[in-house]
Amino acid sequence: MTVFTVAIDGPAAAGKGTISKAVAAHFGFAHLDTGLLYRAVGAKVLSGGDPVAAAKNLTPADLQGDLRTPDIAQAASRVAVLPDVRAALVQFQHDFALRDGGAVLDGRDIGTVVCPTAEVKLFVTASAEVRAERRFLELSSKGHSDTRDQVLADVIARDKRDSERAEAPLKPADDAVIIDTSEMSIDQAVASAILAVDQVRG
Ligand code: DC
Repeated sequence: MTVFTVAIDGPAAAGKGTISKAVAAHFGFAHLDTGLLYRAVGAKVLSGGDPVAAAKNLTPADLQGDLRTPDIAQAASRVAVLPDVRAALVQFQHDFALRDGGAVLDGRDIGTVVCPTAEVKLFVTASAEVRAERRFLELSSKGHSDTRDQVLADVIARDKRDSERAEAPLKPADDAVIIDTSEMSIDQAVASAILAVDQVRG
């Protein structure tokens, strides 16, 4: 059995998703976007559900559909402050990390709380303005009408809530490699993440 965990954390829209998918594909590892779990709980709450019950009863079907909307992102960030929601979701993430063949998990607390012994920890970040611009382009290409200013305000509000919460706040692990993608192309960001993994794998 080969266990090898890559933990990728960072703020909203820093490029974690793109980097995680590319790293997983490069090394043949499985990938879990842990934000989707919180988004699925957030979506249930927006339709009247209880957050803790939703987290405890999450099914794979709940992860389908378009969870990448601004409303669901904010709802996810709000349910993510609740310790009982986090506790209900942590076991699944932990088991995923230890699956045979290697795993990449991306989120906010993977290197600090979910997988503190991960072989590689990356913290992917970028300035709020750069992240908001990327998210704005992504949302407008999908037909959302949010303005640049709204998207920037949302990114800043989510960063604040995610990093100031008491439970598992967003922060780099002490031994994380920081990758600031503000001035990088996607290819450059992916290459630096692959290099960081290669340095550990030898
Ligand atoms: O990565 P994302 O934008 O899809 O995450 C949505 C929200 O979920 C994020 O604002 C905070 C929360 N989240 C979390 O608290 N812990 C994680 N490991 C992943 C996401």
